[in-house]
Amino acid sequence: MLLYDYPEYYEVAFSFRNIPDEAGFIDACIQQYSKVPVRSIFEVGCGPAPHAGELVKKGYRYVGLDINRTMLDHARYKWRHLDQTVELIEGDMAGFSYDKQVEFVYVMLGSLYLNGATEMTSHFNAISRILKPGGLYFLDWCVQLSGSLSEAATNKYSIERDGIAVESEFNIRLVDSDRQMYEEIWSVNVNDHGRHKSFVMTERNRAMFPEEFLKFIADRDDFELVGWWRDWGMDKSIDQADESGRPVVLIRRVQ
Ligand SMILES: C[S@@+](CC[C@H](N)C(=O)[O-])C[C@H]1O[C@@H](n2cnc3c(N)ncnc32)[C@H](O)[C@@H]1O
Repeated sequence: MLLYDYPEYYEVAFSFRNIPDEAGFIDACIQQYSKVPVRSIFEVGCGPAPHAGELVKKGYRYVGLDINRTMLDHARYKWRHLDQTVELIEGDMAGFSYDKQVEFVYVMLGSLYLNGATEMTSHFNAISRILKPGGLYFLDWCVQLSGSLSEAATNKYSIERDGIAVESEFNIRLVDSDRQMYEEIWSVNVNDHGRHKSFVMTERNRAMFPEEFLKFIADRDDFELVGWWRDWGMDKSIDQADESGRPVVLIRRVQ
């Protein structure tokens, strides 16, 4: 059973985020670094499209791409009053097409589910096709802060919203150090007004180091690095000693 098939529980599990602040940060990136006026914003792996409402409020058109139809239906219902400005499409981020162009793309919470170099290349080719020259691609938590692999890590937290309590535990372990592959086991216990449900999801992800990402971008001729910061702060340089928080990277489609 996948938590992604229960979007209302997924939303509680990730409700620790300050969505208006995050939408404000996206807007600040646009104001400061976009070389084209931004009308349309595209989210990769949008899930329930948590930022759509705030972005539309700021005057943008929102497009979300996800592989999970239940998530898309949930988002479509949630934002049905914005159906002129919110578009939700089904597709695989590893290779997709979209017939319009956008001026800003983002991916949140490290949701870059790409297995290896071929998928990485086809994903960036797809982004390159839909993103106007001068437009930005913002990646949250997709590139590691430190240049080394740790053997294992555990992270646990509980959160409650509207009478639904969700306990999440993430167990991450290195499974192949040569290929920088990690396995992440995400165990979730839900108490929905006395009804209990449990989910265990296992994902394999490849750790991407800063130098490697820089090289990947430098080897292409369609993107340039704008900047990267620790924990969503343009004043927080990525090379500061503290490795906590969500690292964010901003790249631009060259003109
Ligand atoms: C951690 S959630 C992030 C959702 C949302 N962006 C947010 O900020 O809450 C990851 C999402 O990526 C979607 N996903 C996983 N693999 C995908 C793929 N290959 N292509 C498109 N979406 C994918 C999942 O269905 C899920 O909705």
